[in-house]
Amino acid sequence: MKKLEQLYEGKAKKVFATDVENVCIVDYKDDATAFNGLKKGSIAGKGVVNNRMSNFLFKLLEAKGVPTHFVEEISDRETAVKKVEIVPLEVIIRNIAAGSFSKRYGVEEGTDLAVPTIEFSYKNDDLGDPLINDYHALALKLATWEEIDTIKKYAFKVNEVLKEYFDKIGVILVDFKLEFGRDRSNGGKIILADEISPDTCRLWDAVTKEKLDKDRFRRDLGNVEDAYNEMFARLGLDK
Ligand code: TMP
Ligand code: ASP
Repeated sequence: MKKLEQLYEGKAKKVFATDVENVCIVDYKDDATAFNGLKKGSIAGKGVVNNRMSNFLFKLLEAKGVPTHFVEEISDRETAVKKVEIVPLEVIIRNIAAGSFSKRYGVEEGTDLAVPTIEFSYKNDDLGDPLINDYHALALKLATWEEIDTIKKYAFKVNEVLKEYFDKIGVILVDFKLEFGRDRSNGGKIILADEISPDTCRLWDAVTKEKLDKDRFRRDLGNVEDAYNEMFARLGLDK
């Protein structure tokens, strides 16, 4: 597969065209941002961790019946993925109260939630990705009911699969964000896209509750690279 011209540069990844129809190459950067790009920095080696961790988890999810955009790992930082039209919703699943949920509802971080929850943010940087409900998403024509139903079903399935997997490696899956896309080469079928990494999940050590995710960068907790490397090692990707 040939890597052709750059199509897009996001905050953490670049996307390139390829000579294969409906396939792009994603190139993961070490750049890190938080608070809608207000805080900027770099996390050495993050691109490698996020690329390889995402691919590992997407393969696991595919095996468990969740369709994803994953095609082929090209290098430590590059992956071939199906070209999709991204549904402009950030889909957030929470098992334990943290972050904006704790703030908004006045619940102490670390409080177990009675059931896993789902929420949506409207992916719109100018508006600061506001919280949105499923009726709003339908009203704004961001997705159809059928797509929203499929997205909910897959998101909770991802939670089940990942919770069980992380539990085995001593990590608590507190919450995470997913993005879905429409596979135009396959009738617009909804598939999991973007990434699953310490950038997009809250991951706590099961024993010490130490944060092994991007909150170390967002909150200036130090040892940011160590946290990413620790997740990489626990997944057995360092060997
Ligand atoms: P929140 O508690 O700040 O709403 O974050 C919920 C989850 O979503 C957390 O695992 C971090 C992830 N997340 C992203 O992946 N991208 C974002 O822009 C934000 C705000 C959160
Ligand atoms: N990536 C997001 C941004 O730069 C925020 C985050 O992950 O906290 O706005």
